[in-house]
Amino acid sequence: MQKTSDRGPAPPSTTPELLTGQKAIVTGASSGIGRACAIALAEAGADVAVNYRGGAEKAAEVVGEIEALGRRGLAVQADVSKEDDVKAMFAEVIDAFGTVDILVNNAGLQQDAPFAEMTLEQWNKVIGVNLTGQFLCTRAAVAEFRRRGIVPEVSCSAGKVICMSSVHEAIPWAGHVNYAASKGGVMLMAKSVAQEVAPDRIRVNSVAPGAIRTPINRDAWETDEAYEKLMRLVPYNRIGEPADIGRTVAWLASDQADYIVGSTIYVDGGMMLYPGFATGG
Ligand code: BGC
Repeated sequence: MQKTSDRGPAPPSTTPELLTGQKAIVTGASSGIGRACAIALAEAGADVAVNYRGGAEKAAEVVGEIEALGRRGLAVQADVSKEDDVKAMFAEVIDAFGTVDILVNNAGLQQDAPFAEMTLEQWNKVIGVNLTGQFLCTRAAVAEFRRRGIVPEVSCSAGKVICMSSVHEAIPWAGHVNYAASKGGVMLMAKSVAQEVAPDRIRVNSVAPGAIRTPINRDAWETDEAYEKLMRLVPYNRIGEPADIGRTVAWLASDQADYIVGSTIYVDGGMMLYPGFATGG
């Protein structure tokens, strides 16, 4: 739904050719933010493996969009919370593309419940995909980056990992304790790994989206009433679009961002600015 507050000049598309010759894996790339990241990376010149867990048709559509941009696309099924799936996924992508230069750890989900009613299953599911999944994929990517090392014609770094975090790596979220705990974990996992692998010229960073128009938070933007309530949390007064995140990820993966190591980039229309204090305090 286009709102009055959505109107304004459209941001530019991704700067082309920042990633020519690079090979990327985007997890959870068949829809939402992951799909936008996969397309933005392809627009910037990368070949992209589109990981999905279920829904092969949607993944195939994303591969079609990547190929229409003149890049190679590859749909790869894997549950990122499963060690064997992740090993098989990296083997398949390395076999097809030769190597991996960029990992976007995007796969994530919410299973919301009031804290006292949250089941162990809901807790384990969210931690398993959102946090353990990022651990397993990052570990596999670091192994490949170290094996290959720096190829100067491709990139001045040996590899890049971008972890999809959230404003909820820092903002507590009642009713979503498993999700906030997973993203808080992602924050310190990413920074700690970044510290450990930076001497190998491997860059690990996070992107922390605010409210982005995707299926995960449909309830928060679908009706006019919900949208207006959401905007009280967004000083820039528009919902984020998946492409807002895709552009950031493509740039962060490029050598233009080579000195960014262990950071979180918030892409949130100002949600982190404590908007409740705009008129009080
Ligand atoms: C969540 C969304 C939420 C947004 C802002 C994201 O990480 O997945 O459901 O709208 O944070 O609260």
